[in-house]
Amino acid sequence: MTAAAGKAPRDVNRGVAPVTYGQGERPPRGDYGRAGADYTCAQDHARYTEADHDTYRRLYARQLQQLPGLACDEFIAAVRQLGAPERIPRFDDISERLFRATGWQIACVPGLIPEESFFALLAARKFPVTDWIRKPEEFDYVVEPDVFHDLFGHVPLLFDPTFADYMQAYGAGGLKASRLDACELLARLYWYTVEFGLIATPKGLRAYGAGILSSTGELRYSITSAEPRRVAFDLQRLMRSRYRIDTYQATYFVIDSFKQLFDATAPDFTPVYESVRKTIAAAGEIEAGVVLPGERQFTP
Ligand SMILES: [Fe+2]
Repeated sequence: MTAAAGKAPRDVNRGVAPVTYGQGERPPRGDYGRAGADYTCAQDHARYTEADHDTYRRLYARQLQQLPGLACDEFIAAVRQLGAPERIPRFDDISERLFRATGWQIACVPGLIPEESFFALLAARKFPVTDWIRKPEEFDYVVEPDVFHDLFGHVPLLFDPTFADYMQAYGAGGLKASRLDACELLARLYWYTVEFGLIATPKGLRAYGAGILSSTGELRYSITSAEPRRVAFDLQRLMRSRYRIDTYQATYFVIDSFKQLFDATAPDFTPVYESVRKTIAAAGEIEAGVVLPGERQFTP
């Protein structure tokens, strides 16, 4: 685990990798002594207390009732695959179902892990899920992703074959980006799609990003509020865009389909990074909440 010094976790993001994976400024929460060289460990299910299970149950129930009309159909269809909502599930049980569906598995981790290890797991179709759960006093907000965010937010869409392929392509791209010094640009792609992505459907806008789907207030805000900007997904535009980690998002990127996402990620990004860097050098980055002239926007 590496730590990026001087980065306040609730401060405006200045282009460092998001805390959704990779680094945080504080020593990472979690017992890393249990982890192997690839940062994975066994889920110590017996260690959860009744209070832990109760926190999970209440978080799950609160999010579940918010999903209709706000979350995408693929997410709603798959969320029950997480198993009984009353207790923190055993990752192995979910992995069995997930492997049968899309060839993915859950890899238990003690908390945030370094980017390289994160990318390597995704490229091997393993999604790292933190095993600790937030304290009751953190019910509404937890700085680092916990088991509820990782499991409820991320795992259901891994049951969708196209999204599952996108995640693997992202991991493979990440391993390459590390060598090209392009992790910052790739982190923006993760942030604006996997964590905070919206999708346009015949029934209206819906959320598919885990940061939204596991959030108390942002799920409704992202779909119904007149405040944020919602712009059509464009890879190079997205990679020029800063984001904020201290508030709800000021900009969301809207995809038409998961296939669009996969197709955008499938080609080699090397020329994309070069082009984005040139544009940033000439025209600058784009602040969150800013819409460019002529840009198509989605309204609630
Ligand atoms: Fe996440």
